[in-house]
Amino acid sequence: MMTTLTNEILQNKRKKYVPRGVNNGNLAIADHALGATITDVDQYEWIDFAGAIGVLNVGHSHPKVTKAVQQQVEKFLHPGFNVMMYEGYIHLAEKLCQITPGLFDKQTLLLNSGAEAVENAIKASRKYTGRQAVVSFVRGFHGRTNMTMSMTSKVKPYKFGFGPFAPEVYQAPFPYLYHKPEALSEEAYVDETIEQFKAFFTATVAPENVACVVMEPIQGEGGFIIPPKKFVQFVRDFCVQHGIVFVADEIQTGFGRTGKLFGIEHFDVVPDLMTVSKSLAAGLPLSGVVGRTEILDAAAPGELGGTFAGNPVACAAALAVIDVIEEEDLVAKSEVLGQKIEAKLTELANKHDYVGDIRRLGSMVAVEIVENRVNKSPDKARTGAITSYANENGLLLLSAGVNGNVIRFLAPLVITDVELEKGLSILEEAFEL
Ligand SMILES: Cc1ncc(COP(=O)(O)O)c(C=O)c1O
Repeated sequence: MMTTLTNEILQNKRKKYVPRGVNNGNLAIADHALGATITDVDQYEWIDFAGAIGVLNVGHSHPKVTKAVQQQVEKFLHPGFNVMMYEGYIHLAEKLCQITPGLFDKQTLLLNSGAEAVENAIKASRKYTGRQAVVSFVRGFHGRTNMTMSMTSKVKPYKFGFGPFAPEVYQAPFPYLYHKPEALSEEAYVDETIEQFKAFFTATVAPENVACVVMEPIQGEGGFIIPPKKFVQFVRDFCVQHGIVFVADEIQTGFGRTGKLFGIEHFDVVPDLMTVSKSLAAGLPLSGVVGRTEILDAAAPGELGGTFAGNPVACAAALAVIDVIEEEDLVAKSEVLGQKIEAKLTELANKHDYVGDIRRLGSMVAVEIVENRVNKSPDKARTGAITSYANENGLLLLSAGVNGNVIRFLAPLVITDVELEKGLSILEEAFEL
């Protein structure tokens, strides 16, 4: 790839003025983007299998979203919902209440980032229950603020050197079928994890102290780990039994990614609260907490909100996104896309013994890279080599997993067959290394 003078100057300024703690998986500099293709300042095209980490289910610069944003920008940028109301916030709140699972009365609180949504789900749960403790799960990821870092598992790079962490945060066991003990059947392993989950509430924290349990329906940064339905239902029932608020963190799994509008729907479980963000507004910063009115309404006026929370431009984008998902049948497309990626990975597994588990729900697809299929030892180095090759040769590709040995696919659901084929052939080359 050629590097122009502009690119070189920008790279040097980036090094000088932006902290290295902000990582760049890819060293190109974006110029414009459409659908699942980003063109960089050197006019080189990149197929996007990352979607800004799950933000672009409707693709880059969807014309309907762009138009909605432009129309809103012409009117006003931000009266501040706490200062003067505007329609977009109210319409989006209503829409999110309508499209999320649960037939009870619901409300929506809008915020800016995923972490902020998780923080506010906790605030609401604490106020409502009068309890303090928060339970997340081993291998979970919920953000980079102090509270959400405390709830997150992967120590490096997310937590190392950043303590002390928030008190009253506990991480419960979460099943990982691919790494179950050989001797146990799947069923026995799930039962064992349920027993460990129960024991956790005896040995680690008392249920009557717990305000909420926060679960990603499919663990995202943790490596796209899909829990068995029985486990999720057990956790949900346990919460009901003990008056604990069950929060589904749908920040990465929401808006069609898993082949359903929300990931939790695969488990026939209705959460009390749901956190949403990422693909909600197609790249504009927006998040929300949606759920039971009695929980979200427990905080008094002034206790919730934020300066930019529910910005009208982001709300306009989100309303357009929800229309696009419906009009273009993106939930159904998600399943078809997932099948195509899985087929390619299965083909690669036939050639390479280092291809371990291939798992997916809809187009939330991941492949675990191991030393070999017998020892299943994580191979972080090979995973890095594959993602680096892709990120130097026209394909934006992300890894994940506590051991850094999972490759995950978060391509826009609107990706064309031509874009997909191009991306998958670069992937194939990367696997030949
Ligand atoms: C499940 C989940 N929760 C929370 C977050 C944090 O979101 P943000 O980075 O917008 O704060 C993420 C981000 O990756 C996520 O995947």
